[in-house]
Amino acid sequence: MIEKVREIVKKECDERNWKFHISHVVKYAKLLAKKLNADEELAELGALLHDIGRIKFGAKNHEITGIHEAEKILKQLKYTKEIIDEVKHCVESHRGSGNIKPKTIIAKIVANADAMAHFDTVFVLFQVGMKRHNNIEKAVEWVYEKIERDWNKKLTIPEAMLSG
Ligand SMILES: [Fe+2]
Ligand SMILES: [Fe+2]
Repeated sequence: MIEKVREIVKKECDERNWKFHISHVVKYAKLLAKKLNADEELAELGALLHDIGRIKFGAKNHEITGIHEAEKILKQLKYTKEIIDEVKHCVESHRGSGNIKPKTIIAKIVANADAMAHFDTVFVLFQVGMKRHNNIEKAVEWVYEKIERDWNKKLTIPEAMLSG
């Protein structure tokens, strides 16, 4: 069933998003799940869908807009309520800047994997910063702030700091 979710997310996002972000988050989420003996498939589901709000509706409040969207996709595929609730929590808590903090191990894994993926793809973040600010200095500053936020607020699992 997870292949279906993979397919749907891949179809929804542009190649850049998949190649330079989502696939990295999936990679780290699975790695962390393995290290922490957590459910790898659930971690992958959370990783696949954590940014679905941003992918469909843009960055603003995407930790909120993504909740309903993730639910819709998983309901269609007849996932259990338990799994759906877990993934929704991954979505709502994945942003370092948001109010809701990750409470479950899977949500923590997704938030950490999200940060780790950013460290992998700083050059892509810079491009996003340039798009936002159209100014190199401001773009660099934006990337620094983002990485700092990731480091301070999202990296909560010791294993994540060692394996990035
Ligand atoms: Fe996000
Ligand atoms: Fe993300």
